[in-house]
Amino acid sequence: MHDWLNALPKAELHLHLEGSLEPELLFQLAQRNGVALPWPDIDALRGAYDYGNLQEFLDLYYRGADVLRTAQDFYDLTWAYLLKCREQNVIHTEPFFDPQTHTDRGVPLEAVLEGIGQALADGRSKLGVSSGLILSFLRHLPEEQAMRALEAALPYRDAFIAVGLDSSEKGYPPRLFQRVFDRARAEGLPAVAHAGEEGPPEYIWEALDLLKVLRIDHGVRAAEDPRLIARLIDEQIPLTVCPLSNIRLRVFEHMRHHNILSLLDAGVKVTVNSDDPAYFGGYVNENFHALYEHLGMSREQAQALADNSLDARIAK
Ligand code: HPA
Ligand code: ZN
Repeated sequence: MHDWLNALPKAELHLHLEGSLEPELLFQLAQRNGVALPWPDIDALRGAYDYGNLQEFLDLYYRGADVLRTAQDFYDLTWAYLLKCREQNVIHTEPFFDPQTHTDRGVPLEAVLEGIGQALADGRSKLGVSSGLILSFLRHLPEEQAMRALEAALPYRDAFIAVGLDSSEKGYPPRLFQRVFDRARAEGLPAVAHAGEEGPPEYIWEALDLLKVLRIDHGVRAAEDPRLIARLIDEQIPLTVCPLSNIRLRVFEHMRHHNILSLLDAGVKVTVNSDDPAYFGGYVNENFHALYEHLGMSREQAQALADNSLDARIAK
């Protein structure tokens, strides 16, 4: 079954490039850029990958992203992820990047986009992995800063295919970002947003009704609201679910309690994704393996999940 799952052609629609930074590359880039790290070695860093919730993970994730300084760093990061895509038969990917995480540290947006963009272009030509980049706003910062990030990125409009919303969820509802998403839509940019990971179903309603998103990232807490589930099914709104992430961040206590297959069987257009694979212990195929091992996923269910991922692409 594992080999069969590995061979399934699939798309990844929920992947933070900064979250694909493996400890080995993190240490290499720290050395290359002369960045001091709080961990003495790779094992100590791996030992810190134990989180009680989303915020504890994010604190570590932003600390790790600090080693990314030059276009070459962003190229190396993205290229390493694309090699994984080829290895795992991920034929298409729509990764996120968080421009504010880098520009707020003084890294020019041009360096970020140049490195990621060149790697994605090489991924297409040399690896056969198609892609579209999603510019994601940090919701723990004020909307004015997201608006500035959007405006700074508009001269590079062709470098990305959509906008997103991520970072700390609770206390930062989608409605706070309505104007920046209105602006992005006026520029012809489609939208996605993280909602219903730790936050309540109301945040999913707001993402749909106010931000007018095409997909919901995570969305697993929709299960608490039958009217919302009916709408997701009726409108076939994709959810980009990240099973290993949900266990590591304690959204579900154990993989055997995860609701992805119940949602699938109910008719929700769910997909399987890795979120931050370097931090959560697995890429897309390891997520599929976990669903087989702990939830008894059938071949038909796996095929439907993979088909959903290809169908839910923004960049076709
Ligand atoms: N949730 C919110 N923000 C994030 C995540 C996540 O799982 N990963 C990286 N940024
Ligand atoms: Zn995410």
